[in-house]
Amino acid sequence: MSFPIERPRRLRRGDAMRALVRETDLGPERFVLPYFVIEGENARQPIASMQGHSRLSIDQLLVEAEAALGDGVRSVLLFGIPDEKDATGTGAWVEDGIVQKAIAALKKQFGHDLLVMGDVCLCEYTDHGHCGVLKDDPQSSAGRDVDNDPSLELLARTAVSQAAAGADVVAPSDMMDGRVGAIRGALDDAGFQRVAILSYAVKYASSFYGPFRDAAGSAPQMGDRRGYQMDPANVREGIREAAADVVEGADMVMVKPALPYLDVIRAVRESVDVPVAAYQVSGEFALIKAAAEKGWIDEERAIAETLTAIRRAGADIIITYAAREAAVRARQGTLLP
Ligand code: PBG
Repeated sequence: MSFPIERPRRLRRGDAMRALVRETDLGPERFVLPYFVIEGENARQPIASMQGHSRLSIDQLLVEAEAALGDGVRSVLLFGIPDEKDATGTGAWVEDGIVQKAIAALKKQFGHDLLVMGDVCLCEYTDHGHCGVLKDDPQSSAGRDVDNDPSLELLARTAVSQAAAGADVVAPSDMMDGRVGAIRGALDDAGFQRVAILSYAVKYASSFYGPFRDAAGSAPQMGDRRGYQMDPANVREGIREAAADVVEGADMVMVKPALPYLDVIRAVRESVDVPVAAYQVSGEFALIKAAAEKGWIDEERAIAETLTAIRRAGADIIITYAAREAAVRARQGTLLP
């Protein structure tokens, strides 16, 4: 018998063969594009650490969303950046808050063509930059930490206000215990049974959120988020978080960040039956952009490779700042590593 019997290279001969046997598909409908919305008109503030992205006033958001739809992106995730912040994050839930106005404007303009998701958290709206209201806590490095239960009411109020503005999906990213149940109950009480919850169920206390916090002005003013976001060393805990959120009523669960946590995406995918999302966060995007700018990696291939890896790990939905370019290439069949 000649050696070797198996020759895997036979199935790697040429594009057509490789396409025939490729195990992972990546279509534009999988992508969700995040936006940062600010007050004002005709305003675009470029975000230095997130190339190609700007904080946008609502009129500019409409222009961008139209272009994104044209590229094949059908879902967006909105973050509001209010003019004024306070201790309880009032800007997050007021009826005429920035994100509420943005949701209403998008739904008015694009109707059901565009799926609109609202990020539900207080950190962009609090003057201390934490994801809920604070209380003294001698165990915490800053001497204070987020007070879980009083924060739930504010988060639920935020979700209801986004639903009232027309959001299709609310996405709580605060990591308080019990918030999915609190939000589901409040949505149902207010008549928003149809609004889905995408829970940031497995969100790590990560260094990769740096550019986002820059963009949103949401870095904690003291201490850090390790009292509520997960320890990067843990995976079983993530499965538990995801399962708890499903029991509380999450329609979809998210793992975040994505690339450093592919094993977690896989574990969560195998342990729950709901769709799993993964968030390729700002720092992951910035790494690719910065290295490409230096000529150290090929940006297009790196984007395709990372998104493929995230999908291969088990993500049904990918939230990414590269959604537009990825959608264009996915449609052309050129989103290939
Ligand atoms: C808000 C929130 C954060 C991100 C999404 N929602 C920041 C944080 O937890 O500090 C990060 C997204 C990104 O880095 O792209 N709680």
